[in-house]
Amino acid sequence: MSCTPSDTGGTGVPPVNHGPEAHATSSARRLRVGVLASGSGTNLQAILDRISSGGLNADVVVVISNNSDSLALERARTTGIEAVHWSEKKAGSPGQFVEGMLSILRTARVDLVVLAGYMKLLPKEVVSAFPGQIINIHPALLPKFGGPGFYGMRVHEAVIAAGEKESGATVHFVDNEYDHGAILMQQTVPVLRHDTPEQLRERVLAVEHELLPAAIAKFAQEFWNRKR
Ligand code: GRF
Repeated sequence: MSCTPSDTGGTGVPPVNHGPEAHATSSARRLRVGVLASGSGTNLQAILDRISSGGLNADVVVVISNNSDSLALERARTTGIEAVHWSEKKAGSPGQFVEGMLSILRTARVDLVVLAGYMKLLPKEVVSAFPGQIINIHPALLPKFGGPGFYGMRVHEAVIAAGEKESGATVHFVDNEYDHGAILMQQTVPVLRHDTPEQLRERVLAVEHELLPAAIAKFAQEFWNRKR
């Protein structure tokens, strides 16, 4: 199967702006990113596209999916990135799952773990092994419309049913609850009067594709500042 880069433009979110100084100081320091995804991986693709266009000083060093059919794995392979199918079922037990996950992430020496459409709660051992180094993208304006049960199209259905005038996307740090940690970045989109959940999903997803690379850039800046 071949993958084409997704369209990540035209959302009105300003592109990440690395000034000359930022480039000079960070050119030797590329953030090592591990991505976890379960589905089609368009957010992964947006990160890869931003990196290849020179707009994000990072490398995706490993992509992990609990779903062997995930397009995210295919996108990683196409780009020459290590792609690992790893699930509790494959591991055989929760303990072995955690051990394997930690081993994959540590071997890849990740600075940041990005949950980009990862449909599982990350085990607490993994969360505590990477304190403040795991982020997630959610297709709504948290803390609204987040938590157990708010995933996929259900999020957009709930937003419309509640009569919201605005929705959007949120990138937040991951803790031991679904969609719960501190917010890193958010971007709004309007909810239009006759929107279907599918139309709203498309509008939000376009914003996600801008927001996630921007949030990684913001994380990187703070990460390298802390290391100084
Ligand atoms: C996105 O809407 C993201 O916010 C949510 O899952 C979806 C993943 O989409 N957590 P994709 O696999 O990146 O296309």
